[in-house]
Amino acid sequence: MPAKSLDQIVSLSKRRGFIFPGSDIYGGLANTWDYGPLGAELKNRVKRTWWQTFVHGRQDMVGLDASILMNAKVWEASGHVGNFADPLVDCKNCKERTRGDKLIEEKLGVEAAAVLKIEQVQPMLLAEKIPCPKCGKVAWTEAKRFNLMFRTQQGVVEGEGNEIYLRPETAQGIFVNFKNIVDTMRMRLPFGVGQIGKAFRNEITPGNFTFRTREFEQMEIEYFVEPGTEAKYFEEWKDAVWEWFLSFGIAKERLRIREHGADELSHYSSRTIDIEYLFPWGWGELFGLANRADYDLKQHEKFSGQDMKFTDPDDPKKKFLPYVVEPSFGCDRSILTFLLEAYTEEVLENGETRTVMKLDPRLAPYDLAILPLSKKEQLIGKAQELYKRIVQETNLVCDFDITGSIGKRYRRQDEIGTPRAITVDFGTIGEDEKQGERDTVTIRDRDTLKQERLSINELIEKLKR
Ligand code: GAP
Repeated sequence: MPAKSLDQIVSLSKRRGFIFPGSDIYGGLANTWDYGPLGAELKNRVKRTWWQTFVHGRQDMVGLDASILMNAKVWEASGHVGNFADPLVDCKNCKERTRGDKLIEEKLGVEAAAVLKIEQVQPMLLAEKIPCPKCGKVAWTEAKRFNLMFRTQQGVVEGEGNEIYLRPETAQGIFVNFKNIVDTMRMRLPFGVGQIGKAFRNEITPGNFTFRTREFEQMEIEYFVEPGTEAKYFEEWKDAVWEWFLSFGIAKERLRIREHGADELSHYSSRTIDIEYLFPWGWGELFGLANRADYDLKQHEKFSGQDMKFTDPDDPKKKFLPYVVEPSFGCDRSILTFLLEAYTEEVLENGETRTVMKLDPRLAPYDLAILPLSKKEQLIGKAQELYKRIVQETNLVCDFDITGSIGKRYRRQDEIGTPRAITVDFGTIGEDEKQGERDTVTIRDRDTLKQERLSINELIEKLKR
């Protein structure tokens, strides 16, 4: 553990149905990925556990599911129309377009790139002799600001006024609903709103599998607090999120916190830290925590003309704009991290190597696999009966696999991270005492490889627990 290269995860994901290249039969669409049957299960589980921890698990949180399409004024107010841009440079030789700051970051580190002003990007690229990744020449144009929002038209009439954007962050859906939530949900400060949903950014340099894509999913929280208390809640959220990642088995030594320098802060932030993970290509942002102060509510108040202030229920004369602490998770990046971290190659006693995804059992696509030892009708019938019982009597998700030798089926379950496999054999149907008594099955543990024989009733009781 963990995966040594991204290729190990890309290939396992395709081979085992976690993540496929998007539009595959048409030769793909660059940097789009589709979550396959197992990826969809994994993704749902990541979202569900996130929601359980941060929304259902806390008295001070509620959820929201806002539209992707929003009034274009939202993005003027939020500052994204004016400020959400990256420095784009062109290679004068081969015309390759790329992000100048990323090239500088690769050579001189994240801190050096972060403090650069747009007019410093080209001189720095030339002074450091940073070559074009495509043709190798050092011939860069001046950097231009490239807005990352996807634009589209709403309705049948083209033209001004119909232009809208695909949201580049889910956060704004929470800000524009702030009043609705306060008025309907009897909220008291501090309180937070959690939301999971798609966001879109026309990234100049997407890549590294699902790490940076143009369509991705965020799991965001806007936590509203009384001004003056934000520093305390910032620390609390930092600790809570750090613990959340550790609780899914991410090794401490591959996580670190990086504080943004003053020149690097987003237009809305007065303090930001990232939790970074040591990806196979180096440290990269997994999660961001920002102090957005009252920036967004103030801007929406200004642009919409609506009063966005919060009235203290105990003192109606006390009206103010709350400050906001924002923990922002990338769902896809979290999944990529869980996959990388789970990837394990083990040499067995017989000298063979087994690949096993040691996913946290709460995230594994299947809780259990039910494997009839052979294709004999009676065995399959018995195994199907067991499958039905488990599904009816527990809320576990089971795979049912009859294809290939039992060894190959165990291998597959290891590679998809199924924590337990149950084998229905000739003993189960009373035809082989050496394998076990009638109505007993073998349960095999993914990590220890230990096998235990127990009765079906005991098994059901154990699974219920
Ligand atoms: N509302 C604040 C916000 O959007 P961000 O740091 O730009 O902050 C938050 O994004 C998280 O969203 C990141 O930490 C990352 O996990 C994820 N993310 C951002 N851009 C992404 C992209 N192009 N592809 C995949 N995930 C992305």
